[in-house]
Amino acid sequence: MEILIDSANLESIRELNDLYPIDGVTTNPTIVVKEKRTFLPLLKEIQSIIGEEKMLFAQVLGEQAEDMVKEASYLNEEINGNFYVKIPVTDEGIKAIKLLKLQGIKTLATTIYTPLQAFIAAKAGAEYVAPYVNRIDNLAGNGVQVVSDIIKIFEHHHLPCKVLAASFKNTQQVHHVCLEGAHGVTAAPEIIKSFTAHPSTETNVRQFMNEWKSFYGESSNSIIKKN
Ligand code: G3P
Repeated sequence: MEILIDSANLESIRELNDLYPIDGVTTNPTIVVKEKRTFLPLLKEIQSIIGEEKMLFAQVLGEQAEDMVKEASYLNEEINGNFYVKIPVTDEGIKAIKLLKLQGIKTLATTIYTPLQAFIAAKAGAEYVAPYVNRIDNLAGNGVQVVSDIIKIFEHHHLPCKVLAASFKNTQQVHHVCLEGAHGVTAAPEIIKSFTAHPSTETNVRQFMNEWKSFYGESSNSIIKKN
């Protein structure tokens, strides 16, 4: 199962990529705008942090399929390595996914709210679909159930498309899409950090250290002998 950082903040990406088993970075126009940087150099800098083997996703802005295809081809030429173009699942977006598949450009179908949007995008040739779990919940839907249904549809119909669940407000949502068998999650840095945070873990670690020091001495905070 893959874990991606949903951010374009270089500092957060550097920190999380160093700490955790991160598989890549996803961005969208909102996330990019927050950084107040020129788009392409920002993407290249993200890639230089994570390396060319890890996945990098960036979204097109065109509304017509032809424009999306042009933007996708441009980005795909400019960005080396394991690059994916995010295409919203509008009708024109589905057409663009079909055309990009023919050109061998990898796509992720984004802004997914229903299982059938995911189905049509997968059939058009998207490598990934990104259902928006929290945004579905906010519309009185059930984001985890949508993820679960998409996975079932892909399995029943042998569609070689992965479900990268996106849009999370809490770890509970992430926990549940993991249980449903999502192929990956992309989450904001603060959500990823909360995967490991637990007050009892911190208390235990502090307690182990205090007990160690009470016998071996205050300055002994390592098991490696110092000369
Ligand atoms: O990758 C999709 C994501 O950026 C949407 O997340 O948290 O803005 O709903 P959010």
